[in-house]
Amino acid sequence: MKFSEQFEARFAEMLTHYPTKRSVLVPTLLYAQDELGLLTGGAVREIARRLDLTELEVRNVISYYSMLTTQPRGKYHVQVCTNIACMLRGADDLFSHCKNKLGIGHKQTTPDGRFSLEEVECIGACSWAPALQVNYDFHENLTADKVDKVLDEYGKRLE
Ligand code: FES
Repeated sequence: MKFSEQFEARFAEMLTHYPTKRSVLVPTLLYAQDELGLLTGGAVREIARRLDLTELEVRNVISYYSMLTTQPRGKYHVQVCTNIACMLRGADDLFSHCKNKLGIGHKQTTPDGRFSLEEVECIGACSWAPALQVNYDFHENLTADKVDKVLDEYGKRLE
């Protein structure tokens, strides 16, 4: 398994910031996923080897965090929070709105590979609920109209 020079530079630098190798696991997984689009079996094995962990330990962390995936996703991964603060401010309707607009359900990807959708637990934006996240971008205080604008804007970036 070979990563880019940029990945290697980031990985080497991260190791200098923490007392144990294990501490760099999550950022390393995120960098690898950004580079590969998903965490492949080869990436999991390589990262486990480098950090002196078992593959199972790495996979346990991947399965815990919704932002990490071993499955392919759309170019823009839309994560709609339906946890309590967002739910009280209409998140269930917004999630249904996203499903209708994109024509896909939870953990599905549009046939053209542009968008994937996921219902997630709290994303830490409760004060501005309801909120969703597209890749690393947060969008808050949402209404159905705002969601349309947000998704249309990402769609335009791919044209
Ligand atoms: S409950 Fe939705 S961001 Fe916290």
